[in-house]
Amino acid sequence: MFVIKLLGTTLGTASGILALLVVVIAVVLTYFDDDVDPVKYTSMAEDWKTLEENFRQQNRSCFILGASGETGRLLLQELLERNVFSKITLIGRRQLTFEDQAYENLVQEVVDFEKLDDYAAAFQGHDVGYCCLGTTRAKAGADGFIRVDHDYVLKSAELAKAGGCMQFHLESSRGADKNSNFLYLKVKGQVEAAIEALGFARFSAYRPGFLLVDRQESRPGEWFARKFFGAVSAMVSTSMSIPIQMVAKAMVSNTLLQPEQKTEILESKAITSLAKSTGK
Ligand SMILES: NC(=O)c1ccc[n+]([C@@H]2O[C@H](COP(=O)([O-])OP(=O)(O)OC[C@H]3O[C@@H](n4cnc5c(N)ncnc54)[C@H](OP(=O)(O)O)[C@@H]3O)[C@@H](O)[C@H]2O)c1
Repeated sequence: MFVIKLLGTTLGTASGILALLVVVIAVVLTYFDDDVDPVKYTSMAEDWKTLEENFRQQNRSCFILGASGETGRLLLQELLERNVFSKITLIGRRQLTFEDQAYENLVQEVVDFEKLDDYAAAFQGHDVGYCCLGTTRAKAGADGFIRVDHDYVLKSAELAKAGGCMQFHLESSRGADKNSNFLYLKVKGQVEAAIEALGFARFSAYRPGFLLVDRQESRPGEWFARKFFGAVSAMVSTSMSIPIQMVAKAMVSNTLLQPEQKTEILESKAITSLAKSTGK
C-alpha cells in the first residue's frame, strides 16, 4: 500500500515537473522564434471559393511525387476534395491502391527513380508539380538520403520543366540552408537552390517545422518529438512544429494565388496562416 502511494506521489511529481519543463521550453521557443507571422493571408476565407472556381475553369493538370507518404497522401486528398485540377497524376516507385471512388480517375506512373531519364514521358504535359518525396538518414544512410531528397527531387524537377511544367511546389524543411553544417538542412537548401535555378515560371518552397502526424511507419525517435511538440503547440504557436494537414492545405491554397515573385519561400508560420485562412 505504502509503495503504491509512494509511486503515485513520485509519478505525480514527475509529471508536474515535466509539464513545467514543457511550459518553460514553450516560453523560450516563443521568445527566440524569429519566423514572422504574415498578415496577408488573414480575412481571405470568403475568397477561396472564387479562386477555386477560377482555377478549375483553366483545366489544369498536376502531378504528385510522394503521394504514398504522410504529406503527399493528405495533399492528394485535399486536391480531390477541392477539385481544382482536371487531371492528377501520381508519380512513384509503386502502384497505389485506393478504395474510395473519389480516387478512380487518378493516373499513376510507376517509375524507377534510378533511371528517371527513361521515364521522361511521365513528366510531360503537367502544369503544376508537387513534391513531397523524402527519406531519412536513419532509413537510407547519408548517401541514400542525398540520393532521394536531392538527386531524385532535382531530376524530377528537371524532367518536369523540360516537359512544360510551369509551377513546382516543393515540401522542403524549416531551416533549409545550403550552407548549413547539418546534412539534412544543407541538402534541403541545396535542392531548393538547384530547383530555383531551373527557372520555373513559379517555384514555391514550403518550409514546415516538425510535422505533427500519427505516422503509419514506426519512427521511435519522432514519437518523442511528436509528443513534445504536440504539448508545446497546445500552449503556444511556434514555427517549430505544424500539423501536417496544414501543410497539405497550404500547398493547395497557395497554388490558387498569384505570387508576388517567381520564387517564394513559405516558412512555417506562413504555411499555418495560409492554411487557417482557407477556413475549412
Ligand atoms: N518529418 C518531419 O517532421 C518533416 C519536417 C519538415 C519537412 N519534412 C520533409 O517533408 C517531406 C515529406 O515528408 P513526409 O513525412 O510526408 O514523407 P514520408 O511520409 O516519409 O513519405 C515519403 C515519400 O517519399 C517516397 N520515397 C521515400 N524513399 C524513396 C525512394 N528511395 N524512392 C522513391 N520514393 C521514395 C515514399 O514512397 P514509398 O511510400 O514508396 O516509400 C513516400 O511517398 C520530406 O522531404 C521531409 O524531409 C519532414
